[in-house]
Amino acid sequence: MISGRGSNLAAIIAAGLPVSSVVSSSARADGLRIARMHGISCAAIERSAFADAAGWEDAMAGFIEAVGSELVALAGFMRILSESFISRCGGRIVNIHPSLLPDLPGRNTHARALAEGRTEHGCSVHWVAPAVDAGPVISQARVAVLPADTPASLARRVRKQEHRLYPQALADILAGRARRPA
Ligand code: GRF
Repeated sequence: MISGRGSNLAAIIAAGLPVSSVVSSSARADGLRIARMHGISCAAIERSAFADAAGWEDAMAGFIEAVGSELVALAGFMRILSESFISRCGGRIVNIHPSLLPDLPGRNTHARALAEGRTEHGCSVHWVAPAVDAGPVISQARVAVLPADTPASLARRVRKQEHRLYPQALADILAGRARRPA
């Protein structure tokens, strides 16, 4: 599930993981072009096309169920999912977040890491629980924060780690090497 650029999606595809389908919360997401380029079925299901969030989530869950996916990977999906969506997906949703969770949930993590004077930053893959960027952490990658870093330079370095960490974590889950949440 994506909303934008799709660089993590590209890394997941490049790693040879079996991506059965891609759903985007925005029809303008660049990630949709990446999916199409690889012949992966995709759909844009926008919140604005539905009267309420429940109808929108119902359409996304229906799409996921029709695909029959074993695992749902959020890769830059920028909307908050309800508890009922998460439980309908049966505890098989994972997310990548650009911070060392539980530190710095939410947005603008790179700027916040710099503003707080942190010396270490990174990214986390975690099971999705019904709260923002919450749920058991599966794996993390760390990067040092350098004196000359800007939010953009830090984001670039963290993203490079994301592209290694996320495909590896997904492969581990699919191979039964990562513990699923209770
Ligand atoms: C990544 O930094 C990811 O950690 C966060 O959103 C960003 C998505 O980037 N959840 P992309 O669309 O995969 O390039």
